[in-house]
Amino acid sequence: MGDITRIGVIGAGLMGSGIAEVTAKAGIDVVVVEADATAADAGRTRIEKSLRRGVDKGKLSAEDADAALARLTVTTELDACADRELVIEAVAENEAVKLDVFGRLDSIVRDPDAILASNTSSLPIARLAMATRRPDRVVGLHFFNPVPVQKLVEVIPSLVTADDTTARATAFATDVLGKTVVRAADRAGFVVNALLIPYLLSAIRMLEAGHASAEDIDNGMVLGCAHPMGPLRLADLVGLDTTKAVADSMYEEYKEPLYAAPPLLLRMVDAGHYGRKSGRGFYDYTRGE
Ligand code: 3HC
Repeated sequence: MGDITRIGVIGAGLMGSGIAEVTAKAGIDVVVVEADATAADAGRTRIEKSLRRGVDKGKLSAEDADAALARLTVTTELDACADRELVIEAVAENEAVKLDVFGRLDSIVRDPDAILASNTSSLPIARLAMATRRPDRVVGLHFFNPVPVQKLVEVIPSLVTADDTTARATAFATDVLGKTVVRAADRAGFVVNALLIPYLLSAIRMLEAGHASAEDIDNGMVLGCAHPMGPLRLADLVGLDTTKAVADSMYEEYKEPLYAAPPLLLRMVDAGHYGRKSGRGFYDYTRGE
């Protein structure tokens, strides 16, 4: 079902820019919306850099990279989404902000059959759906970081999502983007984060307890279990603010201590140590690592 040719992406952070990049590379016209000009510029630069990296590594021709960029508009105007057939919201993991985006998109996006999707990691899709007058057209489409590399997309229908919305969103992820889809229930963390976040939090608790150094915890999982990166480096990649936000949503949903963010994570977020994106997390990225 290749019926979607124009998409919108709300947010040009780590996830939004990755989603925009893979979609533009797949030949789709993409409008990316950011809150202000500085964030919009940063998002465009991130996408350009990633495409250039693809060219340097011989994965993409310079012509294809230029063509992808030509299909991409980065703007600060949400109204630019009026003619979109699918809009994927990828703003910060903050419920109030996401509810506001869904309410506004519902008024702006003209086609009543257009799909409004969320890349949320952990917030209820049903709650986002009820902020619109088209809850049957709202679905979760959850990507993984780095989006151009990770092959998975979780598709999360809520109790009120129409079957054809789920089918069209699934076809977009598989047939257009070439991703593999897993279907998950509308429960905090879906499949992957429900397993991953307790693991990341355990590694942080282990570091906090003085059990082992950050390097040794990470080397343990890389060399002992063949993970591509250790849990602390992965938490830095995901973003410590995002890790905390996802853990908080899961703790609120399940009330289980294994989802409770440990004090070390809270203090690092308080201090602005968000991981790779801020230059400092469990590791120092200020020397261009
Ligand atoms: N864009 C395009 N390609 C990229 C890329 C990017 N941003 N980043 C890496 N790559 C490609 C490289 O070109 C390289 O391809 P090649 O092997 O064909 O040359 C390949 O990925 C490996 O990259 P590098 O050699 O630069 O580095 P590494 O081998 O260290 O891999 C990594 C980096 C891909 C990040 C790898 O360590 C990895 O997969 N880590 C695990 C990431 C993970 O678990 N992500 C999920 C997080 S959870 C999430 O996102 C959900 C959220 O809700 C919390």
